[in-house]
Amino acid sequence: MVKPGEKAKVRVKINGVEYEEEMSPRKLLVHFLRDLGFTGTKVGCDTSTCGACTVLLNGKSVKSCTVLAVQADGGEITTIEGIGNGKLHPIQEAFSNNFALQCGFCTPGMIMQAYSLLKENPNPSEEEIRDGMHGNICRCTGYQNIINAVKEASKVRP
Ligand code: FES
Ligand code: FES
Repeated sequence: MVKPGEKAKVRVKINGVEYEEEMSPRKLLVHFLRDLGFTGTKVGCDTSTCGACTVLLNGKSVKSCTVLAVQADGGEITTIEGIGNGKLHPIQEAFSNNFALQCGFCTPGMIMQAYSLLKENPNPSEEEIRDGMHGNICRCTGYQNIINAVKEASKVRP
């Protein structure tokens, strides 16, 4: 139990590498990640609305602006930097092929949500894709190309 004013120790594995840091127990996971240099994870709203901050925590997609870093202690995190193994992941390829991004701000969160969706359901219907992606907001694309990209990525079986 951390007393007021005390720092909390957080140990996590991010993209397969161990990190241990002391920090305010109020620090959000998204800020922890970005301060470590994982700036692919974006902050769009800070209120659990837009999904730009989506990462995987212990294999499940979470909005990292809604998780305290201390809640991730002992866990495994995957960020957008961790999915491609040095080259584009098939979902990233599909987003590029389908013009599924414009400004790109929502894209890392969209791709992490698609990654999670396809892990749970490798062959989703269009309706299931729309349902699985509904927590991620894009102000540019109009969504159809994003849906097409996820559909294409599902054929490649990432
Ligand atoms: S920044 Fe987390 S949901 Fe928008
Ligand atoms: S591409 Fe600009 S917000 Fe989605």
